Amino acid sequence: MAAGIDDIALYIPNLYLEASDFAEARGLDPAKLQRGLGVEQMAIVDTNQDPACLAANACLNLMQKNKLSPEKIGRLYVATESAFDESKAMNSYVIGMLEQVYGNESFGHCGGIECKFACVSGSYALYDNTNWIRAGEAEGQNAIVVVSDIAKYDLGSSGEVTQGAGAIAMLLNDNPRLLAFDPKVTSTSIKNEYDFYRPFGKETPIVHGQYSNLLYLIQVKNALADYKEKILKTGLVTLKDDETILDHIDYLNMHLPYSNMGKKALAYLVRHEWRSLPRWKDIIAEIGMEEPVPKDPRGTIESVLADAEFMAKDHEFTKLFTKTEKYAEVYESKLASSLIASKMVGNLYTASLYLGFRSSLEFEYQKGVDLNGKRIGFGSYGSGASAMVFSGLVQSEYEEVVKDMNLEAEIGVRTKLTLEEYEELHENKRNTENNIHSAKKEFILTDVKTSPESRGERYYEYIE
Ligand code: CAA
Repeated sequence: MAAGIDDIALYIPNLYLEASDFAEARGLDPAKLQRGLGVEQMAIVDTNQDPACLAANACLNLMQKNKLSPEKIGRLYVATESAFDESKAMNSYVIGMLEQVYGNESFGHCGGIECKFACVSGSYALYDNTNWIRAGEAEGQNAIVVVSDIAKYDLGSSGEVTQGAGAIAMLLNDNPRLLAFDPKVTSTSIKNEYDFYRPFGKETPIVHGQYSNLLYLIQVKNALADYKEKILKTGLVTLKDDETILDHIDYLNMHLPYSNMGKKALAYLVRHEWRSLPRWKDIIAEIGMEEPVPKDPRGTIESVLADAEFMAKDHEFTKLFTKTEKYAEVYESKLASSLIASKMVGNLYTASLYLGFRSSLEFEYQKGVDLNGKRIGFGSYGSGASAMVFSGLVQSEYEEVVKDMNLEAEIGVRTKLTLEEYEELHENKRNTENNIHSAKKEFILTDVKTSPESRGERYYEYIE
């Protein structure tokens, strides 16, 4: 049975911080943000928004756009790494908000849980719900997977330039208009790591930035190796000599904590895949230098990062590699369109990969590309650490959905924050009522109880 993504909706907060203003305030070269990291604007949440109301707003957009009533939804999963309760799942708050619009207990039949594994949990949620449909358990109902996060780092930390906020809701069913997932190819890797984590009670993560970058690349590469074996075994793809699995993936969407991480990941994976192919000789000749190897090729991530000579040479090699004609063609055709939205919005943690997917569909369609039958690959990564690689085929009815995509219109009119406003919001110095954006046709957070018997209870309202 086919199963996959029928439609996709988003909710991005209207407030944003301009990268150049941020760079000036932190004494950074704006080029580091814009060219080095690929960050132009970062969406920032208002005082009356939290990850649950971002998620509920994305779900409402999805349901209204598809004229779906609650009885058509059998599962509603929320994937997030911005949880605010150790026990109560975020989907219960989301259901509570949706019932303000659709009626009390209108979702009473619906199941679902909150999923956690840093930024990869949305992909696990998609996989599990796809299998619920494939198993015939859905009996004609749809599942909604909503990925929602606020990417928030300490003021003045190196991660502060990679913030953002937003939610993406995806509708899954057995007759998807957008993308049907390839069966029996989904591949994972997992390892106990401390590259990025957020201990109980801490609002911002503890991050080992360069370590996390390299771990991401290694974990995705490991999952890709498994994916390659699986997809060859299914017979969905056969490889000729001098072909790599990447030649059979028309578009690649990578987890995007910042847009240039997608570029880094593509270059790393392509290098890895091409290294053993005849075409590599021509690449090396064009670059004019041999591919560097670390002093200890079987060493740890720490030993590789500490090998300054290798790191510098590898950086130089990567830069030259990405300028080769063959690689530039792969980058332009498979990845570039997926990075556009990330530059405008910033890091959405769990939702970043799916914002990239949406961006790729919208901007490739605008170029006039016929997307029917194209294979889309996903490289999902969550710190801590796990990666998931999977793929799907764009379906013939995709145009019905993609023709109406308009990122700018869907985000709406945006309000640029001053640095002072941003820092006040970041440090939670404004109370819930002291909001900046005037909400309209959306859910907002109205109260968080503080008394001992009801501490942590959260209340939301739909604003007409
Ligand atoms: N002009 C142009 N480019 C410049 C520049 C300038 N003046 N100054 C620096 N750059 C370039 C650098 O050359 C570098 O490019 P390459 O990657 O091509 O080498 C880029 O800008 C970034 O520079 P640095 O590596 O020196 O930046 P940094 O050390 O300050 O930190 C970071 C970058 C590690 C991503 C940091 O922002 C961070 O810790 N972010 C949070 C963690 C993170 O996002 N990790 C990603 C993988 S883990 C994950 O994905 C999970 C998740 O969602 C968090």
